[in-house]
Amino acid sequence: MGSIEAARKEANGSLTEKKPCVVFVLGGPGSGKGTQCANIVQHFGYTHLSAGDLLRAEIKSGSENGTMIQNMIKEGKIVPSEVTIKLLQKAMLESGNDKFLIDGFPRNEENRAAFEAVTKIEPAFVLFFNCPEEEMERRLLNRNQGREDDNIETIRKRFKVFLESSLPVIEYYNAKGKVREIDAAKSIEDVFEDVKVIFTPKEEQVATA
Ligand code: ADP
Ligand code: C5P
Ligand code: MG
Repeated sequence: MGSIEAARKEANGSLTEKKPCVVFVLGGPGSGKGTQCANIVQHFGYTHLSAGDLLRAEIKSGSENGTMIQNMIKEGKIVPSEVTIKLLQKAMLESGNDKFLIDGFPRNEENRAAFEAVTKIEPAFVLFFNCPEEEMERRLLNRNQGREDDNIETIRKRFKVFLESSLPVIEYYNAKGKVREIDAAKSIEDVFEDVKVIFTPKEEQVATA
């Protein structure tokens, strides 16, 4: 066996052994996943892994896959699972943590099935930020982070991919009773109030009504 393959198996072995707690954070582009993940990290000690951020870092690092990833992102297309899963596994191992918010992944059925097959990890639940397209469009056009995919042409393509490929993944987990849906059209503060309830253990929730 080649050393790279051996290393991959070993890495995966120690991940599987650890049985980490994984929450998939899903929602359309601009629904506020990254914003809320930053809040969850502060309050609940998770490590935030954004698949999109990992792919953008991979482009910047000058990796051999960089050009392919850049072209896919520009077109709003989903990068082959193998590439994204490797980046996620590496980041999970390097973090040393055992609680992860995996943001923007799985984006399609291929992502979902491949992650499950490779890592044997089932998510604890799926946090779904539900937001109307008009609101997401407004947010993306105002995001101002210099992203090459935050232009109206690519945004429309990303919305189409979300409806056609990502929503079915949310439906898959919904059928398993794993989806916690949040109204993401509210203010950042109000959305986080709803998020907190989901992450706070039941016995610690104080009745405020
Ligand atoms: P995602 O990671 O889901 O694509 P982001 O968290 O990057 O979304 O949010 C997209 C943009 O919208 C950012 O500029 C962010 O500051 C802003 N934003 C996030 N949540 C809200 C909200 N609840 N109300 C208004 N603007 C928001
Ligand atoms: O989640 P984010 O908006 O940062 O994703 C940006 C882009 O990264 C997506 O439109 C897609 O091209 C790519 N991506 C992907 N596979 C994922 C997550 C993101 O190909 N699981
Ligand atoms: Mg994001």
